Amino acid sequence: MSHLVAPSILAGDFANLRKDVEMLNRSEADWIHVDIMDGVFVPNISFGFPVLAAINRYASKPLDVHLMIIKPDRYISRFKEAGANHLIVHIEACTHLHRTIQAIKHEGMQAGVALNPHTAVNNLEAIICDIDQVLIMSVNPGFGGQKFIEHTYRKIEQTRNLIVKSGSKAMIGVDGGVDLSNASKLIELGADVLVAGSSVFGSSNPINTIATLKAL
Ligand code: DX5
Ligand code: ZN
Repeated sequence: MSHLVAPSILAGDFANLRKDVEMLNRSEADWIHVDIMDGVFVPNISFGFPVLAAINRYASKPLDVHLMIIKPDRYISRFKEAGANHLIVHIEACTHLHRTIQAIKHEGMQAGVALNPHTAVNNLEAIICDIDQVLIMSVNPGFGGQKFIEHTYRKIEQTRNLIVKSGSKAMIGVDGGVDLSNASKLIELGADVLVAGSSVFGSSNPINTIATLKAL
């Protein structure tokens, strides 16, 4: 399977999200990545259910919802109602991760687990066969437009090895600082999903940039 591209709407125009969502509908983007930040797990607040539901009203592509919030268990059904197709939680924010993953799947969503840059891949060993996506953070979460952390390459290789060894069907996503300078290497090392915010929305022609990322 060739890789997927998931533009991050965090880098879109919040005063006109409909326009950006419709642009993504017309583009070769596979999913729309939506970042939810609570101001506690990460030092920033993005938006919540009403905005996600508004994005969902216009989106024709799956919503890949990345929760940067503590105790996500409280809101799993609310995210489903607001339109999430995939729900990604942070391993660092979940005390009972297995239970959280089961609850996400019970709601009929794909379940993903995100790892902060400092979190070792081997923490996934006991959960890798239960999840649909591993999201490797290649920046410290909380903000768009940060510099890609080089150690991520090694973590992608380690995740790929773990997936092969365990027979898991999980996809590997990479999130943060992904652009045309590092995307080919990420795919080569085993990334299945490129999440890209500023490199897409900050470019002069986002539709072309998405097509270029897709064609790598
Ligand atoms: C960071 C978010 C990312 C962010 C990526 O906390 O999880 O999804 O939107 O943005 P760029 O591509 O600009 O680093
Ligand atoms: Zn994200």
